[in-house]
Amino acid sequence: MQRNESLWVEKYRPKKKEDIMGNEEAKELFVEWLKNKRHTKKAVLLYGPPGVGKTALVNAVANEFNYNVIEMNASDTRSEKAINLLAKPATSYTALDNFTKTKETKGNVLFLDEVDGIAGNEDRGGVNAIIKIVEKSLVPVIMAANNPEIDKLRPLKKVCLLIRFQQVRIPLVIALLQKICITENIKAEFEALERIAQNSRGDVRSAINDLQSLSEENHILTIQDTIILNSRNKDISMDDTLRGFFSAQSIAEASNLLRYSNVDYDEFILTVSDNLPKRYSNNEELSCAYDYVSQADVFRGRVGFENWHLLKYFYNSLAQAAAVNPNSYKPFTFITPPIKIITLFWTKSKRTILGNICNKIGVKCHVSQDKAKSEFVPFIKSMLDKKKAHPILAWFNFTAEEVNFLNEMKRF
Ligand SMILES: Nc1ncnc2c1ncn2[C@@H]1O[C@H](COP(=O)(O)OP(=O)(O)OP(=O)(O)O)[C@@H](O)[C@H]1O
Ligand SMILES: [Mg+2]
Repeated sequence: MQRNESLWVEKYRPKKKEDIMGNEEAKELFVEWLKNKRHTKKAVLLYGPPGVGKTALVNAVANEFNYNVIEMNASDTRSEKAINLLAKPATSYTALDNFTKTKETKGNVLFLDEVDGIAGNEDRGGVNAIIKIVEKSLVPVIMAANNPEIDKLRPLKKVCLLIRFQQVRIPLVIALLQKICITENIKAEFEALERIAQNSRGDVRSAINDLQSLSEENHILTIQDTIILNSRNKDISMDDTLRGFFSAQSIAEASNLLRYSNVDYDEFILTVSDNLPKRYSNNEELSCAYDYVSQADVFRGRVGFENWHLLKYFYNSLAQAAAVNPNSYKPFTFITPPIKIITLFWTKSKRTILGNICNKIGVKCHVSQDKAKSEFVPFIKSMLDKKKAHPILAWFNFTAEEVNFLNEMKRF
């Protein structure tokens, strides 16, 4: 995954264990495991909510104690073949020769980040490949995930030491934001930082992103500036999102806009693609933007309907397409060329069935179509997979076609 230093979450990526706020017990447990790994289990699984420092801890500790990290995460690949290809050298006897074990480095560690994403839906072989790697590995294997409860990860839990991360406490988040404000020369009211921290619910990544998008331009942050956080409850329309997206002055701004928007992501990707030539007249910029959009499309596919935590990669890639050259932005009228209509035509029947399903859920459960789609459909789908959904299906009055759709669906 490419890193972009213009994002503060990258710029302030922790370098040492001490830079990581909170989760003291988890941090200690992890370091202890790494130092005395041979006496316990060969693999460790760090799990917990997004944006609390799991990935950051692994990289910071490796940096501090001079381990060489062989890293793979869900943004790279998730096929069994690819997992094996990457991990093979680390699990064979040639590992220590082939990888740079010098006087300066203590050795290699294999880091499989976001295993819930690597072990993707379409590729059940992924988990088995990972377990084989753990069994064969000559080097410590570190894994991270958001939700270790998902069925497909269950076999992994047996071979790992589990270390749980929790949301970072609000005062710690505030302290971190204050530090960033000092370095970035931002005059911020304490109440404003408090509001951002509270709103993040212990997700440090989102707190830093909010701080950047609210204060980067003016270098002043007041409590009034944070009012927008309250209204950002996912109700920004397609038109507003497009306008905000194309006029964004930075990756952080575009990425945050996507985070808070209510648009259908598939439709948004198509519309952005169609409009890019209007946004960028310079061919190099245009081609660069298309590269980012295609990368975003790949991530969208990997998010599917259950790996929502991977959306951060999608936001990041798409946001980079918006900010290839912020200075060249001039307002323009959005177009919807035929290509989009054709694609929508092909997917229309699928959309209608899903729409009907969400309607039925909405009526029975008194929720919006969106809520039905994002929260209820994945749940019903998972019950179906476990063959426990029969009473629910009857209660919702789903037709055979709708049940079939739910059974077959991989993403929407
Ligand atoms: N506890 C923390 N202390 C300091 N900075 C943090 C902390 N947690 C997250 N960050 C900041 O947020 C960024 C993202 O954190 P990180 O990638 O470690 O989250 P994560 O727990 O791995 O989330 P995910 O489950 O989504 O992968 C880091 O680069 C860092 O800037
Ligand atoms: Mg992570």
